[in-house]
Amino acid sequence: MGMFRVKSVEQSILDTEAPEHRLKKELTALDLTVFGIGVIVGTGIFVLTGRVAREMAGPAVALSFVVAAVVCGLAALCYAEFASTVPVAGSAYTFSFATLGEFPAWIIGWDLILEMMLGAAVVAVGWSGYLTSLLDSLGVHLPAWLAGEAPVFNLPAAIIVLVLTAVLVMGIKLSSWLNLVVVAIKVAVILLVIVAGLFFLKAENFTPFIPPATSTPAVEGLSAPLIQVMFGITPVAFGVVGIFSAAAIVFFAYIGFDVVATAAEETREPQRDLPIGIIASLVVCTILYVAVSLVVVGMQPYQQLSEAAPLADAFKAVGQTWAASLISVGALAGLTTVVMILMLGQSRVMFAMCRDNLLPRSFARVHAQYGTPYRITILLGVVVAILAGLVPLSTIAELVNIGTLFAFVVVSIAVVILRHTRPDLPRAFRTPLVPVVPILSVLACLYLMLNLPVETWLRFLAWMLLGIVIYLGYGHRHSRMAEWPLKPR
Ligand code: ALA
Repeated sequence: MGMFRVKSVEQSILDTEAPEHRLKKELTALDLTVFGIGVIVGTGIFVLTGRVAREMAGPAVALSFVVAAVVCGLAALCYAEFASTVPVAGSAYTFSFATLGEFPAWIIGWDLILEMMLGAAVVAVGWSGYLTSLLDSLGVHLPAWLAGEAPVFNLPAAIIVLVLTAVLVMGIKLSSWLNLVVVAIKVAVILLVIVAGLFFLKAENFTPFIPPATSTPAVEGLSAPLIQVMFGITPVAFGVVGIFSAAAIVFFAYIGFDVVATAAEETREPQRDLPIGIIASLVVCTILYVAVSLVVVGMQPYQQLSEAAPLADAFKAVGQTWAASLISVGALAGLTTVVMILMLGQSRVMFAMCRDNLLPRSFARVHAQYGTPYRITILLGVVVAILAGLVPLSTIAELVNIGTLFAFVVVSIAVVILRHTRPDLPRAFRTPLVPVVPILSVLACLYLMLNLPVETWLRFLAWMLLGIVIYLGYGHRHSRMAEWPLKPR
């Protein structure tokens, strides 16, 4: 049937050279690191920290950030080898095509839609929430049906998505310049939280550092972590198990370092710059997250942290409204770049899928003047804007997490396979201790996935089944791999 036909690494690289599908190569290692931080620091730290500390981990949420960072670090070592060996747009999708074959590659491409498209919509909704709260403090009140807690159509979220779509169409250099400015603001605000917050720490807020395990409605029924249900444990939050359930959620805060790999084709020296970009942005973010979460739980008893804007509200709680407003502005800036780069990554993965005819090929056309895949970017922008207008923020982050963790599992396995099938390929970056590190990465990702709620698993399986149906109905028949031997076009 050819479902496992592999596209060679050479063919993948050759494809990038066809003039009508060629992207501009302009990014450096620093651009990539800034890109990474731009997409990593977002809703995870600005919003989820509060919810997770309140419902699952207490002050030990800082440990959850460490657990999630370790999982991401292992996966990053595998991503870096792949990105430096197969520097082609499409990230995990392209890596899997080069190793596991067409069908697994499609599955991964389909799965990445959960991560990036859904992720972009969710973060746009978070952006709208911060905008609403900032406007409120300036005395401007948006009507409840257009913004706020439960709008009929979330207009600010849809508008920001469309504006960013236009930026992406106009060119990658413009987007990375904009990103640089915004990342600087965002990091400055995070440092402000850490430094200013130190003056308001109370030792009693840190005890107990790991609150005792308890049953709460937050983990009942379909909301219970799968691992607790599998082992017949009465689902609990807090305690040591709570640290891991929380880690599976705050994992969201690290999503994005892998998106750096999707810009491979637009990087000047991908073999050297990609690994630097991926690992550097992950390290910087881990340090910032652990510090911020320790400060925030030290400023307020964890039960009182706010769910919508925990960082800003912790400062309000100690009477520092000026800091709260500054933090809101920083969050707004921060979430903007997250939405933008998630959409950038998504457009590049879809671009690669169209180029392989697994999705309609005509979408893969590159703009003559801007050098960007404009058709796919515009289509994506419209879909994300509609989703952001209609989808509530609530638990979608968990679906994004399971999709991303699944992609990490596949990439880690693929590193080992490619070492065996293509030992000859030049690898500027080699994952250390293969196969130990990739195996640990697979186990760590699977473990975090098991800590996600049962309902997340059900949604994930439904999405994957839909993907299989589409592949059998369209992609498999149209695939360029069917026209063997491949001709570059
Ligand atoms: N890591 C990104 C965020 O936290 C997706 O918003």
